[in-house]
Amino acid sequence: MSAVPVITIDGPGGAGKGTVSLWLARTLRWHYLDSGALYRLLALAAARDGIDLDDGAALAQAVAHLKIEFRLHADTLQVLLDGADVTAAIREEACARAASRLAVHAGVRAALLPLQRAFARPPGLVAEGRDMGTVVFPDAALKIFLTASVEQRARRRWLQLSAAGVDASLDAILDDLQRRDAQDASRAAAPLRPADDAVVIDSSELTVEQVCARIMGHVEERGLTVGDHPAP
Ligand code: DC
Repeated sequence: MSAVPVITIDGPGGAGKGTVSLWLARTLRWHYLDSGALYRLLALAAARDGIDLDDGAALAQAVAHLKIEFRLHADTLQVLLDGADVTAAIREEACARAASRLAVHAGVRAALLPLQRAFARPPGLVAEGRDMGTVVFPDAALKIFLTASVEQRARRRWLQLSAAGVDASLDAILDDLQRRDAQDASRAAAPLRPADDAVVIDSSELTVEQVCARIMGHVEERGLTVGDHPAP
């Protein structure tokens, strides 16, 4: 196991990884990596700089120029690109689609690897994404694969958007999630799949609190402890 303990939370879009990972990082007072945000930021930078999403080499090069800042607040992650707040922009469906497309390039994934590993600092790291347990942190102390039926994930996202006053179609969300799942799971480079030693949790019939309680059970079982200072 690496010196800094890491907990990975992987799974398909809309399974609740974000909520659960943020909660866990806060509770443990560990650092937090939203790796999907890195892919989304690259998608945003590519759109701004006119880089073709099929040009893996140019995209991999662009990673070196990304000026990213993550600010962890009580229950949100503020994201800045070149000093501009892009917290809302990276959550748009178009950005998610572009992120999923550029994530197929092995060169892009390799370029993002050191950036992601640099997040592992004492007292520990909660890292969420698609390949945290399989590729980025294969020695993680605890690996969770959080999943849920695609219908349930689409319904949750629709409820979230409706609550935020966004007029979205449930069918369109379902369609988007299915397409993104297929793309993320079928790519050759680091496809979405549970690590062999991952604990798989299906959240279809569970509340957020129940998922968190289950994860905490595994955290305690492995003797992972709360940090003695709050993660910045
Ligand atoms: O978790 P998310 O929805 O923010 O991720 C957006 C896209 O980024 C996702 O569809 C695939 C890609 N991604 C990835 O390939 N590997 C990761 N570790 C995280 C995200």
